[in-house]
This record gives sequence, C-alpha cells and structure tokens, in this order.
Amino acid sequence: MEDVQSLHGASADATPFADAPPVFELINVSHCFGDLIALRNINLRIGPGERVALVGPSGAGKSTLLNLLNGSLRPSAGVVRALGFDLAQLSPRALRQVQRQIGVVYQQFHLVDNLRVIHNVNAGALGRWSFLKAAWSLIWPQEVERAAQALAQVGILEKLYARTDQLSGGQQQRVALARVLVQDPVAILADEPISNLDPERGREIMDLLFRLSEKMRKTLVVSLHTIEYAYTHCHRIIGLREGGVLFDAPPAEVTPDMVRTLYRIAKE
Ligand SMILES: Nc1ncnc2c1ncn2[C@@H]1O[C@H](COP(=O)(O)OP(=O)(O)O)[C@@H](O)[C@H]1O
Ligand SMILES: [Mg+2]
Repeated sequence: MEDVQSLHGASADATPFADAPPVFELINVSHCFGDLIALRNINLRIGPGERVALVGPSGAGKSTLLNLLNGSLRPSAGVVRALGFDLAQLSPRALRQVQRQIGVVYQQFHLVDNLRVIHNVNAGALGRWSFLKAAWSLIWPQEVERAAQALAQVGILEKLYARTDQLSGGQQQRVALARVLVQDPVAILADEPISNLDPERGREIMDLLFRLSEKMRKTLVVSLHTIEYAYTHCHRIIGLREGGVLFDAPPAEVTPDMVRTLYRIAKE
C-alpha cells in the first residue's frame, strides 16, 4: 500500500472550484416525506474534483440529500442536476446511465455476503457488461485483472477469492471502495461510510477515500456523523441541521461555535 502518513493532520488544499461547470447542482430543492420536511430550499453547486463533507446530527437530511444527488429520490420541489442533467427530466434508461457515473458507498457496505470478494468488486462493472457476461462471470469471473488492481489499490489484494462475510467491517468497506473503483465513476457519494467501523478502521477508510478521490480526480461528497474528518479530508464542509444548510464553508472558516450550534440539542 502507498504511504498515507502524509495525510494525517494535513488540511485539504483550498482549490477554486467555483468557475468549473458543476458536477452537482441543487436549485431551490426541498424534499418531504408525507408531512415531514426533510430538506428545505437547498441551493448548492459542487465542482469537479471537489471533496465535500455533509455533517450534522442524525435526522438532519444528509442521506436524503445524497439520495437526491444520485437520483434515487426525486425532489418534492426544485431542480437537481447531476453531470449537467436535470435528473427529473431523464427517461429511466438515461437516468441509469447518469447513475453509472456516480459511485455510492454506504454505511452498511451493501455487499452480497455469501459471494466471493471478486463478485462484489465486479458488481461495479455490471452497468457496462451484457447480461450474459454478468451471468457467466458468476461461474467464471471476468476481468479478474481489473478487480485485482482495484483490490490492490484498497490494500487487500489477497482477499480476491475470500468469502465476503468472512472479512472484517473495515475490509468489507474496502471491498465497497474497490467496487466503486471498478465502476470508475465521475463522482463518489459516501453515506456515513465509517459509522460502523472502529476509529482506527474509520480513519483508514477516510484516508483511502481521500487519496483515491484526489488521485483519480473524482468529486467526493461524504456524509459524516461527526465533523473531525471533514476538517482534515475535505475542501468544504456543509453543516445540515433540520433540513437546512446552517453553513457551507472551507474548513478554515468553520469555527467551534458553528459546530456547537450545528449539534446543539433543539430547545423545547
Ligand atoms: N423514507 C423515509 N420516510 C419517512 N421519513 C424519512 C424517510 N427517510 C428519511 N426520513 C426522515 O427525514 C429526515 C431526514 O432523514 P435523513 O436524510 O435520513 O437524515 P440523516 O441522514 O442526516 O440522519 C428525518 O426526520 C427522517 O426521519
Ligand atoms: Mg443518514
């Protein structure tokens, strides 16, 4: 594995993303679940290669926002653009094509436990494969070299043929990252990718996400329950609270006071 020591404590460079056409854009977006307003009037632009942390207490709307960005939810109001497309205007087929360009990493890993690692990694390539190739690959794995390369990048090449449910949580999240690498998307969305990991494993996964998105120039939007890694690993921190954006600023401008307000328990 490459050395990741240099990451620790180094804050991300501030890079001017404002001028590039956005990878994601939300215009006056609100989302309701029945009577509950999960997001209210959000306006955001996220540029190519930008690494953005979504932070805020449980229920703030982080997952809802990520689901809107990848088109798995349609907003109740407003416009969500991804890769230049207004997602609500796309046919189901065109939407799937855009979604292929957006890799997603989840808190619960979302792997098929009883399959070998190679099949879970190759799931990232299914969007490009014919049905026959995908079916055949379950018996005779295809593109082994590519899967092996992705696993090597996340540091667990030796697990290529291991059963997925025999890996630790940290290793399973690495498999999920390898699956995204094989998918080779423009952007990566990660929804609390370290919430189920112990602190040391969590740091390793954040280091990997940071390093891979930087090296491969991928846009990264990662939701985090706590703010610690947002400071060290992202260009920009968006504080969400009760469905609204409380702040949206580079780490250097996010003060302890702002963080306290973000997590303050709501008054009766
Ligand atoms: N499928 C759903 N149906 C009903 N309410 C939901 C659903 N998903 C989320 N919510 C509600 O929307 C709000 C925002 O949730 P969520 O986006 O999951 O927040 P976070 O990811 O920040 O914890 C919460 O009040 C949550 O209970
Ligand atoms: Mg969530």
